[in-house]
Amino acid sequence: TIRLSTRDIVAMKARGERVAALTCYDYTGAQMLDAAGVPLLLVGDTLGMVVQGEDTTLPVTLDQIIYHARLVVRGTQRALVIGDMPFMSYQASADDAVRNAGRLMAEGRVGAVKVEGGAEIAPLVKRMVKSGIPVCGHLGFTPQSVHSLGGARVQAKEPTAAVSLLDDALALQEAGAFAVVLELVPATVAEEVSKRLTIPTIGIGSGPRCDGEIQVFHDVFGLYTDFQPRHTRRYLNVAQDIAAAAKRYVADVGARQFPGPEQTSDLTPASKDSFKS
Ligand code: KIV
Ligand code: NA
Repeated sequence: TIRLSTRDIVAMKARGERVAALTCYDYTGAQMLDAAGVPLLLVGDTLGMVVQGEDTTLPVTLDQIIYHARLVVRGTQRALVIGDMPFMSYQASADDAVRNAGRLMAEGRVGAVKVEGGAEIAPLVKRMVKSGIPVCGHLGFTPQSVHSLGGARVQAKEPTAAVSLLDDALALQEAGAFAVVLELVPATVAEEVSKRLTIPTIGIGSGPRCDGEIQVFHDVFGLYTDFQPRHTRRYLNVAQDIAAAAKRYVADVGARQFPGPEQTSDLTPASKDSFKS
């Protein structure tokens, strides 16, 4: 198998094929998703919440994203792996952005990076793309700005804000972005943006008319239970299943039911006799 590239993801939109993406943070998770045919995996800075237990994505560092990216890339053969650029790894200057994205690609082995923001970061996106770094945008609710936005709320609900979101999306496309995540955007706005762009929109909490969808691994498989965002659907309840299984394990160990004969090796009966007092 050859690995999918950003061009393959763009070609899916041209063919009218929806892009089903998931976040992923480790080797075994990546193996399962790659085997299932998920074409696009994001090593998201949601790492901070669902893996590290932080309240926001802000504490996540570039070194942490690089570490998890390597695990995910090792677990995949086909999927395109995108690495999230963490808070303040690109906002301060275009030099920072190029250098840090370069590290994420060279050390993390990802095929593309993702940055949050609109027209204001278009020059920076352009420089990254010109340096050989494929870039995915992220508009609407941008979690790295949660403290400015006052929580995870739907964005671009007013006509002027909707128009400005469309302008941002066009600016990112013009700068060379290969896709744009639309998070918590009204369905009609997301649909209109998707129609106006030639690059795919990847929705989350933005309705069914985006060119693709992205969800957080721990949300859709029921591993993260602190809260359930309205935009997720639980396809599994792994947290419940593991808690029940762990109870059985504890009971079995307590009752000397585990390990059993199948998990145990021993001396031959003859040598056992000579060994035991
Ligand atoms: O960090 C993340 O998981 C993301 C997706 C939810 C788009 O940015
Ligand atoms: Na993110």
